Amino acid sequence: MTRPTNSIHGEWSSRWAFILAATGSAVGLGNIWKFPYIAGENGGGAFVLVYLVCIALIGLPVMMAEILIGRRGRQNPVNTLKSLSSEENASSTWRFLGWIGLLAGFFILSYYSVIAGQAMAYVFRTLSGVFTGVTADGANSIYQSLTGDPERLLAWHTVFMVLTMVVVARGVKSGLEKLVRVVMPALFIMLVILVGYAANTGEYFSQAVDFLFVPDFSKLTQESILIAMGHAFFTLSLGMGAIMVYGSYLSKSSSIATMSVTVSIADTVVALLAGMAIFPLVFANGMSPDAGFSLLFVTLPIAFGHMAGGALFGGIFFILLVFAAWSSAISLIEPAVAWLVENKQISRRRASVTVGFAAWLLGLLTVFSFNIGEGWILFGMTMFGLLDYLTTNIMLPLGGLLIIVFAGWIMAKNSTQEELAIRSPIFYYIWRILVRYVSPIAIIIVFLNKIGLVG
Ligand code: PFF
Repeated sequence: MTRPTNSIHGEWSSRWAFILAATGSAVGLGNIWKFPYIAGENGGGAFVLVYLVCIALIGLPVMMAEILIGRRGRQNPVNTLKSLSSEENASSTWRFLGWIGLLAGFFILSYYSVIAGQAMAYVFRTLSGVFTGVTADGANSIYQSLTGDPERLLAWHTVFMVLTMVVVARGVKSGLEKLVRVVMPALFIMLVILVGYAANTGEYFSQAVDFLFVPDFSKLTQESILIAMGHAFFTLSLGMGAIMVYGSYLSKSSSIATMSVTVSIADTVVALLAGMAIFPLVFANGMSPDAGFSLLFVTLPIAFGHMAGGALFGGIFFILLVFAAWSSAISLIEPAVAWLVENKQISRRRASVTVGFAAWLLGLLTVFSFNIGEGWILFGMTMFGLLDYLTTNIMLPLGGLLIIVFAGWIMAKNSTQEELAIRSPIFYYIWRILVRYVSPIAIIIVFLNKIGLVG
């Protein structure tokens, strides 16, 4: 099987566009909702340090591997792996790795859209001032009144999914690229405004900075090291072909190493800034940083409700969350859409509606997990919990592991060297050692832990 030299979906108009799109994919609910709360639950500073090491030693080399495979194959992940494996004289079974990715993206999108829908609902709730002076019980019941009502949840889930489909239907340049060009700078500005707002809390701001940056190694457990590694994957959108398919629209002249370093740094900076926007407010209101899932939808609105200008800044916060989720959602759906367009010869518009509608239908399980389906338990989890567990804990690490095995062991050294085109041989060798040995071993440890065999 030969591979095309250009993607039929077109190319990013510049490296900058790729950086914005890949950063848009990486920066999402994972940075603004999940990172602060897992950092909170795992004791702060020491956890953050381990997370940074994981981004550098695992995330970065895996991202380079995904982009290089995508750019070399120039098709959707299934076809790319099929043509690259035939080129490298390897088994065509590798194409199933592409399937795992497509499926994982589709599963994640189904619940991601429901949570993003909740964030949309919160934009209006916060701006309307309902949280002003709210008590903990009050904030809880406002959240329950949203999640306990399947119709409302469904309506917001539908709005978010339609927004995602509309962008993807318009194509790489006029859809994906146009969105990230507007959304990403806006997101960054909003985040800086929110950090500025949080900085006004004075001593609580420095308490938050200490919490995030002063490591207390006594708080670090084996489990938290493993959580940090798993999150490095999720937050950089690795292991499922999203970054791979974005790489297939990247021009040959762009340096994969530079792009990957930039995207990883941008993603990390956003996660840290999100922590610096959230924790000062939490501390200033005497609340605990380890509220978990409800940190964003219950704890934070209470904090906003007791601060000057809280309704406005709270509104900005939830708009930021919606934007971040939107630019990630388009990358979750893109691999499956590209597959349909390339293999079933249907238009992008039809492909986007088909995949979006199917993910919307699957999303009903998550909608109902918060209300009428609360009691639908499988393997001890709600349907939402199960989808999250299956994707984040099994499919992503497995996909990521196979991607680096493919780049490190199946592809010839010449092929990866040519595609990466790193000038300094030392840097290439460091990358190669990381993808052949260091990262796979680390991922295997994470994986075994997540499925409960180790730790
Ligand atoms: N990186 C996104 C986040 O941190 O929210 C989640 C994500 C998006 C994972 C796209 C995977 C993906 F393909």
